[in-house]
Amino acid sequence: MSNTTANRTLYALISWGSSMLLVTGVSGGLGQLVAERLAGRDDVVLGTRAPLPGARRVDFDDPESLPEAFAGVDTLLLISAGYGEDDTVIARHDAAISAAERAGVRHLVYTSLTGAGDHLPYALAHRWTERRLSASTSLKWTVLRNGLYAELLAFLAAPGADGRLTAPLADGRLAAVARADLAEIAVRVALDPAPHAGRVYELAGPRALGGAELAAATGTAYAPETLADARKRISASGALDFQVPMLVGTYSAIAGGFLATPDTPDTGDLHALLGRAPLDPLEVYAEAVGAGTGR
Ligand SMILES: NC(=O)c1ccc[n+]([C@@H]2O[C@H](COP(=O)([O-])OP(=O)(O)OC[C@H]3O[C@@H](n4cnc5c(N)ncnc54)[C@H](OP(=O)(O)O)[C@@H]3O)[C@@H](O)[C@H]2O)c1
Repeated sequence: MSNTTANRTLYALISWGSSMLLVTGVSGGLGQLVAERLAGRDDVVLGTRAPLPGARRVDFDDPESLPEAFAGVDTLLLISAGYGEDDTVIARHDAAISAAERAGVRHLVYTSLTGAGDHLPYALAHRWTERRLSASTSLKWTVLRNGLYAELLAFLAAPGADGRLTAPLADGRLAAVARADLAEIAVRVALDPAPHAGRVYELAGPRALGGAELAAATGTAYAPETLADARKRISASGALDFQVPMLVGTYSAIAGGFLATPDTPDTGDLHALLGRAPLDPLEVYAEAVGAGTGR
């Protein structure tokens, strides 16, 4: 028996009679928070490209490795692998979904992008992935349309050493959401996916934040910037080619007011799935700024 066959048999035996969940991308910001919440469970396997002890190697850029990575898995929590041009990201997600279908995964939970984010440069790959899932004839699926993180705002709108918060947000506001809230929802859904089959959840944050408010929270003054100046600043910062339009487009969508609608206790999926009040994104933003962990 080859090692691969032996491993598949072992995984099948381990998972027999119980339902196995595999989480991809556990070295990323969201994946780490998910993994922390699942620690100690024997029905959960972690997946990552990183050399993490006990985790399976999961690299969507290496499709040939995925049959073994997904062997014995019933539920797959696919954390989007969104860094790259659209064709790169689409190829990754297609490889992951195709491998899940072939491995007999029953339910795939995908972390997507808020519907309000259709103007964002990276929306296309998310919508492609949603369409690919809904075309699957074997998988049940759930789409978690995550809003932009409060922690990302700490990167996009970080106060400078000059006491100013310089960013091209105009008067726009972002309904930012704490990554930890999104991690908690992903865990809840992935551990009991059946009631969520075929659902698309909109997970914008509970409160919209603008430049003046962010500056006040960090003891700085808001200095609105033009998109042209921001593009020059980002290009000069050593950003990768694909990141320049990605970042400028994010500012533009916020400034244009497309991402300002918050989740509400009465109607919102974020409140309903959490079953508690969401974390305050302004506090999460300020903490991430203070800790220098914005991204
Ligand atoms: N809503 C938002 O504000 C927001 C902000 C940024 C990004 N995102 C999207 O949400 C995802 C998760 O966010 P995050 O904060 O955790 O991002 P992050 O900290 O930058 O982590 C990147 C993630 O992409 C995964 N990844 C990259 N290449 C991969 C590959 N070839 N195969 C498998 N996985 C790959 C990484 O997995 P490993 O390193 O563990 O293999 C990791 O989970 C991102 O990848 C991006 O698509 C959302």
